[in-house]
Amino acid sequence: MQSQQDRYKAPARWLHWLVAVLVLAMVPVGFLMVQQGIGRSLQNALFLFHKNMGVVVALLVLLRVLYRWRNPPPPLPASLPSWQRRVSAATHGLLYALIVLMPLSGYVRVRAGGFPIEVLDRLGVGSLLPRSEALANTAKSLHYAGALALVVLLALHIGAALQHGLIKRDGIMGRMWPPHR
Ligand code: HEM
Repeated sequence: MQSQQDRYKAPARWLHWLVAVLVLAMVPVGFLMVQQGIGRSLQNALFLFHKNMGVVVALLVLLRVLYRWRNPPPPLPASLPSWQRRVSAATHGLLYALIVLMPLSGYVRVRAGGFPIEVLDRLGVGSLLPRSEALANTAKSLHYAGALALVVLLALHIGAALQHGLIKRDGIMGRMWPPHR
């Protein structure tokens, strides 16, 4: 039986699942919107969604990092082998780095390229960066490399979660699921 101390607190769970759903939407939308021949109006709608939802993701990630800093995660069960602890810590660390890098590089790519981010423009939040093709291109490459790394790490992360939740049934999945409770 799991005690309250073995599980993430409700705000950590909600933030985890909200960010998860949004990131899982941002990745395919990102890859789709840069394809040739999908039609101008679909492409515009996907770009609009991607850039503006990216701002929401950035704010949620900031909240998540601040919350985690004040509320460290519950300890893993002592039964977990040490190699699994190391892989888990490395995967989680890299996933955090990537969910910070993706909105940042996306922002720099768009603003240094001189493009709008409609929600920020409406709120009167101007660009924090000067226009620079070189900076925009560097950010574009980083955003692309980050997306590929994110796909690999998400596959690892989701695979491990499903293995714990469905095959081993060792209570690791119950630390984060369900979001309420
Ligand atoms: C967690 C957040 C994000 C994820 C997971 C994500 C993911 C992706 C992916 C998978 C692509 C396709 C990569 C490619 O083929 O080049 C992409 C492209 C793009 N993303 Fe994001 N993105 C995120 C946040 C943002 C934000 C906040 C912005 C801007 C405000 C943004 C702007 C763009 C732009 C402009 C492109 C097209 C790049 C180009 O070809 O010029 N992204 N994104």
